[in-house]
Amino acid sequence: MSKSVPFVLSALLMSSLLFGSGPASCAPPPPQKADIKRGAELFDKNTCSQCHLHGSNMIEPTKPLKGPGFAKKFPRDEQIAAIVRKGVPGTGMPSTGKDMLSDRELCDIIAYIRSLTPATAGAPANRKKATAKQLNSP
Ligand code: HEC
Repeated sequence: MSKSVPFVLSALLMSSLLFGSGPASCAPPPPQKADIKRGAELFDKNTCSQCHLHGSNMIEPTKPLKGPGFAKKFPRDEQIAAIVRKGVPGTGMPSTGKDMLSDRELCDIIAYIRSLTPATAGAPANRKKATAKQLNSP
């Protein structure tokens, strides 16, 4: 048990060196399946589902939480975190503080939201082709 403590500490140190210690970022550790599942549960529990059932937007249908448009608009997890924390004044989107949702829980929710959009959905359709062409060009 005590043997693993230095390892854990150095792992923590390594990740803070690698990823910096700026405002809550969901990068380390990468979202696991369990986080997505927990995120889905929290998404329901924190009433997100009332307005965003399955990642839709029932109040403002042009602003769903999935699809290429969403991926393009919110390339970084911090941007989603900020909108959840601050809300969007004047719309139905409420602010959700740490008393309601911890940073860890928010990261799980973001992992769930990210899971609704396949990784390649935001990429240009010809991306693979262009790469192959570049590789084959003399
Ligand atoms: C009472 C309804 C309501 C609830 C509850 C709600 N939202 Fe929203 N949400 C909205 C509306 C309306 C918008 C669009 C705001 C605007 O017009 O920019 C929005 C926008 C968003 C956006 C930005 C989408 C975009 O394209 O700009 C995200 C991300 C989001 N909500 C996540 C969440 C999460 C996560 C929760 C739960 C913690 C949540 N929302 C709870 C109504 C809600």
